[in-house]
Amino acid sequence: MSQLRHFLDIDQIDGAELRGILDNGKARKDARAGQPKGKLDEDQPLAGKVLAMVFIQPSTRTRVSFDVGMRQLGGETIVLNSDDLQLDRGETMADTARVLSRYVDAIMLRTKSHEMLDELVQHATVPVINGLTDASHPCQLMADVMTLEEHRGAAEGQVVTWAGDGNNVATSWIHGAAQFGYEMRLACPETLSPSARAVQWARENGATITVTESAEEAVRGSDCIVSDAWVSMHDDEESGRQRHNLLAPYQVNDQLMAQAKADAVFMHCLPAHRGEEVTADVIDGPRSLVWDEAENRLHAQKGILTWCLG
Ligand code: CP
Ligand code: NVA
Repeated sequence: MSQLRHFLDIDQIDGAELRGILDNGKARKDARAGQPKGKLDEDQPLAGKVLAMVFIQPSTRTRVSFDVGMRQLGGETIVLNSDDLQLDRGETMADTARVLSRYVDAIMLRTKSHEMLDELVQHATVPVINGLTDASHPCQLMADVMTLEEHRGAAEGQVVTWAGDGNNVATSWIHGAAQFGYEMRLACPETLSPSARAVQWARENGATITVTESAEEAVRGSDCIVSDAWVSMHDDEESGRQRHNLLAPYQVNDQLMAQAKADAVFMHCLPAHRGEEVTADVIDGPRSLVWDEAENRLHAQKGILTWCLG
């Protein structure tokens, strides 16, 4: 196996390394506070480096935060949507990985198939970053922990409740519970319960994880409530339609927030659907951290990029 520093999943990287990535991202954020976004960081650790970003599925935050982050670190990016590549015409991800590795210094992939990411990693000779798959979203989790800590202090010992579909983002929150020491509760319908493998791994690595069907029960005494779209990009439309009734009891609204600690915060990776997984009152209200969370994608990503390539 290569010595390359791939950023693939929160359960695959040493906890101290993850903490170092966050510290680096946060220090860079603080150092450039108030400066124009186009201004480069004081040091430019990625000068001369090129990141290819492959998007099999759409993105706003991941695309722009990686692009701006790479520039601030002195590097450059190439954005490749799926129809820019030869994948749809039968070229394999293995061959794409071999070729891209000859041109660029790192590859970020967003795809609805985690197997596609595995194939890329197996054949790339440069670091690979998971920019979201159907299974996980580790870059998001790094920004989320940074945001939680900025607003509520050390993640360790806090109670985080996930309400809704036990999806890819939930898996990364579960992994993070073992790495960053917060307690994780997941309120999900039985048919949309979170990855049993992730739950088992987190418990084996010291995390306290509760899985329940009752959102009210889970939220009681929580520091942070998290939700996400009821239908993810990898879900088919039909199963998406069926989810709305199933997930209605997991909507994060004022009544549900009232069960949490009085100063509990709300987080959501975005894009959000007001009136579905969260009400406008909550996401646009004073307890919502979503804009800081979106901004922190940039700062956390810079920690990730520096770790992979520095
Ligand atoms: N949260 C997130 O990953 O957003 P995008 O899908 O816009 O990248
Ligand atoms: N669970 C969502 C997250 C989007 C950033 C999805 O996969 O579509």
